[in-house]
Amino acid sequence: MKKLNLRDIRKSKQKNLQVLTCYDFQTAILLNQTDLDMILVGDSLGNVMLGYETTIEVSLTEMEIFAGAVRRGAPDKFLIVDMPFGSYSTIPQGIHSATKLFQKTRAEAVKLEGAFPYQLKLIERLTQTGIPVMGHIGLTPQSVHQLGGYFTHGKNESSAERLMKEAKALEAAGVFSLVLEMVDENVATEISKSLSIPTIGIGSGKKTDGQVLVINDLLKLGPNMPPKFCTPVADLFETKKELINQYLVDQRK
Ligand code: KIV
Repeated sequence: MKKLNLRDIRKSKQKNLQVLTCYDFQTAILLNQTDLDMILVGDSLGNVMLGYETTIEVSLTEMEIFAGAVRRGAPDKFLIVDMPFGSYSTIPQGIHSATKLFQKTRAEAVKLEGAFPYQLKLIERLTQTGIPVMGHIGLTPQSVHQLGGYFTHGKNESSAERLMKEAKALEAAGVFSLVLEMVDENVATEISKSLSIPTIGIGSGKKTDGQVLVINDLLKLGPNMPPKFCTPVADLFETKKELINQYLVDQRK
């Protein structure tokens, strides 16, 4: 499959773009050999790779290390890297962090959460300097304490209106694509219809222009049940445990 570029992605409305997260070299090699459209090195690596309670603990250095590994394993995929919490609290800091992340990891784009006025300005500046940005609204896990937990957004009129406004402002600021996380399905559908850039949903129904999942949820790599919106295709946690236990039995025979 041909590696997508920014122009391809911008034109991919209603094309059901498929995105998975990835955090390590060998899984990246595997994904590089599939038909996946894009890889996201999400700051969810804090939860699934590092055992942090929230993504707030993830550092820029950690993002650089994991994204570098994924880049080396998946040279043929459009790669997006999350800007971690605290790395874009001001515009100058955001420009500095994004430039470092973009240069060091050789990703094709960065992603940041939110649509406050300073973030819109930051996105404008980054895109002007040649760093493509993916937006992310709805449930933005880096703001979990400010939001008061993990829940579906857009369930009432004012929340739905705010999301629509944010989506349009982000498009105007220059994002090439927008993640809608845990957004009410009808609102996500309306936003997707209103934008000319592709929306990528997670827990936001089926009518966005694409879907993103955390690979650890899809393959059930961990002991916990994935979120309700993700139906795992395997239970690799149990499978691997059984294989190792069988190996140990065989060794001790
Ligand atoms: O960090 C992440 O994995 C993400 C996706 C859930 C969109 O931001």
